[in-house]
Amino acid sequence: MSDDRIYIFDTTLRDGEQSPGASLSINEKVEIAHQLKALGVDIIEAGFPVSSPAQFEATRLVAEQVQGPIIAGLARAVEKDIESAAKALEPARNKRIHTFIATSPIHMTHKLNKKPSEVLAMAVKAVALAKTFTKDVEFSPEDACRSDMAFLIEILTAVIEAGATTLNIPDTVGYVLPYEYGRIIAELKENVAGIDQCIISTHCHNDLGVAVANSLAGIRNGARQVECAINGLGERAGNAALEEIVMAIHTRASFFSKHEASALLNIKTEEIFKTSQMVSRLTGFVIQPNKAIVGANAFAHESGVHVDGMLKDKSTYEIMRPETIGLSGSRVVLGRHTGRHGFVDRCKQLGFSLNQDELENAYKRFLEIADKKKEIFDEDITALINDEIRGIEHTYELEELHVVSGSVAMPTASVRIKTPTGVVQAAACGDGPVDAAYEAIRQAIGLSPTVNSYSIRAVTSGKEALGEAVVKIVDNKRTFMGRGVSTDIIEASARAYVNAINRLVTVQP
Ligand code: KIV
Ligand code: ZN
Repeated sequence: MSDDRIYIFDTTLRDGEQSPGASLSINEKVEIAHQLKALGVDIIEAGFPVSSPAQFEATRLVAEQVQGPIIAGLARAVEKDIESAAKALEPARNKRIHTFIATSPIHMTHKLNKKPSEVLAMAVKAVALAKTFTKDVEFSPEDACRSDMAFLIEILTAVIEAGATTLNIPDTVGYVLPYEYGRIIAELKENVAGIDQCIISTHCHNDLGVAVANSLAGIRNGARQVECAINGLGERAGNAALEEIVMAIHTRASFFSKHEASALLNIKTEEIFKTSQMVSRLTGFVIQPNKAIVGANAFAHESGVHVDGMLKDKSTYEIMRPETIGLSGSRVVLGRHTGRHGFVDRCKQLGFSLNQDELENAYKRFLEIADKKKEIFDEDITALINDEIRGIEHTYELEELHVVSGSVAMPTASVRIKTPTGVVQAAACGDGPVDAAYEAIRQAIGLSPTVNSYSIRAVTSGKEALGEAVVKIVDNKRTFMGRGVSTDIIEASARAYVNAINRLVTVQP
């Protein structure tokens, strides 16, 4: 490995999960953490253990089950946070306590109501305490980029003496621009005593849309760790997007170092697309089609001139190969005439290991969809299995749905649902066809969870594309997400609702 090595610190499960509306269950966090390990991230920030029992448990389970990457837990610069992080991280083979305190005049005055000298003393005490639990301690001066440079230098010098090994420089409010962020890193590198023995880290928020550019400017000026999140999730406008940082370094390695990308990064780029899809599916955050690297159009070529160029030589309009991020080049996969063997084989190639029941259910649904849709793509199979098959108890199964709707008719729906005690049916009216279907499902099942959010997207393009509906329901202050796919968007919506109810009854029978 070169000494220019860049460490990828993923904060999807901590800062990413702070995205409004992106809450993940404990099991979902563990599932994502396993995938982050497969992606090859160096550090996984698993949570903020003191902030809730669920955060504590998620951090603890990730620490216990995901071995290889360093597992980090966040803690304010106070004793109870650090002790809680240390306890949650106990099972980890490689652990890091990440402690922070605000250093900008705005935060120290209005939020902490403390003098700089008090903040400095708390930071030193926190790092020294964290050091009693692990040799790997990261310190973040929150709102660093609006802090006084002389104070930043003073506090960073002091925490290094107290044992900090990584110094993270957060642009907490996404305020600075790339040139400024690069200058801050360069100035700290030059003036903080002992900083050469530490790793300098970037942590940039995207309020002005420059989080990735700022992080890259940080690396150019000596930072060796980048804090980022899959799909750019995070507080407000989010954090720097991991996939964009990685692919920028991968594609333009020579801009950052004399070494090849493989010597700079530990990331298996072929896992990027899968990870991005998983995070989108579990958080319910749909990826915009023109999103860099992982958006549906990121490798699509539409205009005649571009398509012509691509056919002559891909390098005319393509700076990265889709295969590099794990997108297969061939798109048409299966159809109505594909037998069970071909379907099972494709599922294996896509990385799914399903038990016998799951395979039966998946194949049954595949045939239903293939009856309506000529060509079934990898994305369709992935959406079907992730949404309707994997890890889902089929307590209720939508057998039939009939909807009447139009510009004058009152939308009416009838459903037939298989339950553990037999088949139930109901009919209802609603404001629209989806509302009518949901009311009929509520009446048939006898449960009335409230719909919190609802969205629909096309899994692939074209008029035969599968529609994927995502619905969040709330019951007793707990949120459950359901997804469903179909060539008919009303049916996809009904399936998503039944799916969410299945999750609800699995958790609280
Ligand atoms: O944005 C921020 O300042 C943070 C710190 C806790 C590192 O997320
Ligand atoms: Zn942050």
